[in-house]
Amino acid sequence: MSQAPRRTVVVLAAGEGKRMKSATPKVLHPLLGRTLVGHVLAAAEPAGAEQVIVVVGHKADQVKAHLAEVAPSAVPVLQAEQNGTGHAVRIALEAVPDAGGTVVVLNGDVPLLRPETVSSLIEAHEAGGRGATVLAAEVPDPTGLGRIVRDAAGNLERIVEERDASPQVRAIREINAGIYAFDVSSLREALSKLSTDNDQGEEYLTDVFGLLASAGDPVGVFVAPDAQETLGCNDRAELAKLRALLRDRVNEAWMRSGVSILDPATTWIDVTVTIERDAEIDQNSQLLGDTTVAAGAIVGPDTTLIDTTVGAGAVVLRTHSIGARIGDEATVGPFSFLRPGTKLGRKAKVGGFVETKNAELGDGAKVPHLSYVGDATIGAKSNIGAGTIFANYDGVNKNHTTVGEAAFVGSDTVLIAPVEIEPGAYVAAGSAIQKTVPAGSLGVTRAPQRNVEGWVARRRAGTVSAEAAERFEAAKAPEGEISEAE
Ligand code: UD1
Ligand code: CA
Repeated sequence: MSQAPRRTVVVLAAGEGKRMKSATPKVLHPLLGRTLVGHVLAAAEPAGAEQVIVVVGHKADQVKAHLAEVAPSAVPVLQAEQNGTGHAVRIALEAVPDAGGTVVVLNGDVPLLRPETVSSLIEAHEAGGRGATVLAAEVPDPTGLGRIVRDAAGNLERIVEERDASPQVRAIREINAGIYAFDVSSLREALSKLSTDNDQGEEYLTDVFGLLASAGDPVGVFVAPDAQETLGCNDRAELAKLRALLRDRVNEAWMRSGVSILDPATTWIDVTVTIERDAEIDQNSQLLGDTTVAAGAIVGPDTTLIDTTVGAGAVVLRTHSIGARIGDEATVGPFSFLRPGTKLGRKAKVGGFVETKNAELGDGAKVPHLSYVGDATIGAKSNIGAGTIFANYDGVNKNHTTVGEAAFVGSDTVLIAPVEIEPGAYVAAGSAIQKTVPAGSLGVTRAPQRNVEGWVARRRAGTVSAEAAERFEAAKAPEGEISEAE
C-alpha cells in the first residue's frame, strides 16, 4: 500500500501591503468572489496538505476572522514583527515540529495562480528529489521582483532581490513568483542560517536557494506554463489588471463549457458562480457570490445578481437581485429589484419597477408593474395589479400579507398587513384593504363617484379644458341644431 506523500502548506499573509494605501490588509482585498489570500488557499488545495499554516501579522485579527470563514481548517500563526519572508516561514515551521515531506510556500498576494500549476510544481519537486524548487516565469517587466540567477549550465545558483542586484542581474527577466516547494529538513536547516545582511535588513526566504545550492543540495526551477499566473498585486492599479485578467479567464471557461456571453469585456462573473449550458449572459452584467444560473436562462443586459438562483429557461432583464430564488421559466424585469427572501415559482412574473423582499410568488403568479411586495405570500396564478403596495411596516413591526391562489388584486391598491386575501377573491382597484377578503368575494373600499356637472365651464372658463368640453358637447348636439349652424 502506497502512503500519501506528507505535505504542509504555508501561506505568507503577514504583510501590510503599504502600496494598497488601505485600512484593509492587502490579502483581504476582493477579486471576483474571493479575497487575494482566498484565491491562494484555493490554488494550494491540490497539495492535499496535512496542515495549512497561514502566517498573519498586520491586522492579524481581521485576517484570522476571514480565515475562520473561508478556510476554517487553516491554522493562523502570528508573526508579530514582519522581519521578512524567511522569518515568516521559520515561525510557521516552529508551529509544526512534526511536519514531514514537502513544505509548499505561497505568497499571499498571487491570486491568479492555478491549482494545476501548484500540482505540477510539487510533482517536479518531489520527482527530482530536490531540497527546494521555485516557481519562475519569464516576464516582460521584472521591476521589483526577485531574479533567478542560473550558472553557465543553466542550473539555479541563487535568487537575488532587485534592491540587492547588480545591473547585470537586474537585466534578467526570469523572476521568482513567490511560490516554492521545499524538503522540510533542507528548509529548516537553511532557515537557521539566514542572515539579514541585505538592503532591507530582513530574513529573505529566497536566500534558502543560494544556501542549499552552495551546500550541494539540489535545487531547481519550475517554469510556469503561463507567466500571467505569477503576477503579484502591490497596488490597486495592479489589482484592477488582475481582475480583468481573471474576468477573461472565467468568461472563457464558461463559454467553452456551453454558456453564451454576449460581451465578455463587460461581464463579471465571480469564481464562485455556476452556470449551466445554453444559458445566455447579456452585456454589462455581474454574477456574484453564490449565484447559479440554470440551463437556457437569459440574464441581462445590465443585470446584477448576488447570491441568486436562476431557474432553467428564466429571463432576468435589467435587474438588481440579492438573495433571490427565481423559478424555472419565470420572468423578471426590466428594472426590477429583488431583495433577500424573494422566491418566484415556475412561470411567475415580476415586471417593471417592482421591488420584492421576503416575498414568495406561487407558480404563474404575476406582479407585472410598479409595485412593492414586502413580507408576502402570493398564491399560484394570482395577479397583482399595477401600483399595488404591500404595506408591511407599521413603524415598529414588519407584518405579513397572504394572497391566496388565483386571487385578483386591482390596480393602485394598498394591502395593509397583517391581512389576508383568500383564494379566488377580488380586490377592487384603488382600495385600502386591512380586513380579510373572503374566498370568492370582492373587497372594495372606494368612495362612490360623484360628478359635478358644468363645473369646468363655471370655475375654469376660458381654459383649453373648457373649450375642449364645449366642442365635445357641441359635436354631440342633435342633428337639427347642427344643420342650423351650417
Ligand atoms: C517576494 C520575493 C521576491 C519575489 C516576489 C514575488 C522575498 C525576499 N522576495 O518579494 O523574490 O519575486 O515576492 O511576488 O521573499 N510576508 C510576511 N511576512 C514578512 C514579509 C512578507 O508574511 O515578514 C508576506 C507578505 O504578506 C506577502 C508575501 O510574504 O504576502 C511576500 O512579501 P512581499 O513583501 O510582498 O515580498 P516581495 O518584496 O514582493
Ligand atoms: Ca509582493
